[in-house]
Amino acid sequence: MIPILLAIALDCTPCHKDIAASFAKTPMANSSERVRSLQPAEFLHPPSATRYTISDKAAVTIETPAAKARQQLDFFIGSGAHGQSFLFLRNRKLFEAPITLYTHKGWGASPGYEKDLNSDWTRPVTRECLWCHASGAKPIYGTVNTYADPVFTHGGLTCERCHAEDSKHFNNPAKLAVEPRNDVCRQCHQLNGRTDLKGKSFFSYKPGMLLSDLVSYQTKPQQPDTPLSTTSHFERLAASTCAKASGDKLWCGTCHNPHPTKTSANACLKCHINNLCRRGPDCASFHMPKNTAPDSGHATFTDHWIR
Ligand code: HEC
Ligand code: HEC
Ligand code: HEC
Ligand code: HEC
Ligand code: HEC
Ligand code: HEC
Repeated sequence: MIPILLAIALDCTPCHKDIAASFAKTPMANSSERVRSLQPAEFLHPPSATRYTISDKAAVTIETPAAKARQQLDFFIGSGAHGQSFLFLRNRKLFEAPITLYTHKGWGASPGYEKDLNSDWTRPVTRECLWCHASGAKPIYGTVNTYADPVFTHGGLTCERCHAEDSKHFNNPAKLAVEPRNDVCRQCHQLNGRTDLKGKSFFSYKPGMLLSDLVSYQTKPQQPDTPLSTTSHFERLAASTCAKASGDKLWCGTCHNPHPTKTSANACLKCHINNLCRRGPDCASFHMPKNTAPDSGHATFTDHWIR
């Protein structure tokens, strides 16, 4: 019997054309997908004495002094703004490849694999990774890294990751109370120190809910020179005088619109008059300097601690 009453996902595009078109171009909308093809390439990872050859069909040949093997890459993670990592399936178990295509330096070892003495193709991909980078992931409960087919239904983020259905239509993060508003972005932009509360699961979160009902965050106090990480925007921003002194006015949405349909003016000027500052209209490049994040293969990120 074919089930007739499948839950049909509502297509937002016909009624929100401009937003859909604008969002489709963003890194968040393009953060994962099946790998279709790659530029052929070849590189050596000296610590493991492994030579990798990547074909245009995304097959990798792995050569060590002792052995030669081949592995097909199935999915990419990351839009390429900073880089792309790769996942592959073996008997419906999902693993991360030890090689990453960095935008600033080309192919290299994936973050965390830099010093490995062996080419390691056994790192399982748990639900966290796909929660942040894909939508409609289908992990099999009770397993570490086994997934149903397809592994996820949508590459990147769908509208519903930030807009949950409510009694009227879909909620707007900007109109939620402060904590649930901030939580919409926090679900993916802060990982450090997160633990499930007893009997609760982070993965039951939907926009509009409170993360504090599901998890606790034990975050280390930030120092000006604490190394940035790919998901440290939240802690860094919270350490800013701007955030502390403006009460709850300052949040990610003050400066970022995930689907802008018009460019917004310098967000600093929403709260500051810059006639005291002699640097001109570009406030952020000075007060929010860029720095490298060691957990990202030293790609460059923006320090969100406004100083
Ligand atoms: C049949 C047309 C239609 C469809 C389909 C539709 N919307 Fe809307 N939506 C509207 C209209 C009309 C409004 C009110 C005017 C506006 O803000 O654009 C609205 C408003 C919204 C708002 C603003 C709510 C607020 O309180 O500010 C959000 C968010 C939203 N829609 C999200 C979605 C998402 C996400 C989807 C797809 C899952 C979707 N809509 C599908 C017609 C639609
Ligand atoms: C479901 C997870 C998820 C949610 C929810 C989420 N993000 Fe993201 N965000 C990501 C990921 C993953 C990336 C990296 C995308 C890439 O380059 O592959 C990203 C990248 C970004 C970027 C940099 C790229 C760009 O588009 O300029 C900004 C800015 C950003 N997010 C802001 C926000 C804001 C603001 C919110 C809340 C309204 C939010 N995000 C909610 C996962 C998420
Ligand atoms: C808690 C959410 C979260 C988890 C878990 C997570 N990421 Fe990310 N990842 C992000 C965010 C947010 C960014 C964007 C950082 C930025 O642009 O500042 C990002 C960026 C990246 C990038 C660079 C993308 C680009 O081009 O900008 C890659 C590659 C990446 N992640 C791979 C992975 C892989 C592989 C996993 C799991 C094995 C993973 N991430 C787990 C949230 C997450
Ligand atoms: C990463 C989180 C995120 C994603 C994904 C996202 N939105 Fe939004 N959306 C927001 C935020 C934040 C606002 C509030 C913007 C503001 O007013 O500052 C918003 C506002 C809206 C609004 C009402 C205000 C307006 O600009 O008209 C609509 C409608 C909307 N989104 C539709 C969509 C649709 C359709 C999609 C998918 C194509 C989508 N959103 C994807 C975060 C998101
Ligand atoms: C939501 C409002 C808001 C926004 C947006 C905002 N600030 Fe602030 N900021 C404040 C408040 C409030 C203070 C504390 C009172 C003061 O010094 O004026 C402050 C303080 C500061 C300080 C002094 C910091 C210190 O450590 O003493 C600097 C510098 C600053 N802001 C720069 C910026 C820059 C640059 C931007 C944009 C990237 C920005 N702010 C965006 C509200 C904001
Ligand atoms: C006061 C303004 C401001 C606020 C508030 C803000 N950002 Fe940013 N953000 C910026 C600027 C400026 C950049 C650099 C943009 C560029 O290089 O084009 C940036 C860049 C980013 C990027 C791209 C990667 C990087 O690090 O360069 C991500 C992801 C991001 N912000 C996420 C967030 C999240 C999540 C929040 C809320 C916790 C947030 N931002 C709050 C101003 C802000």
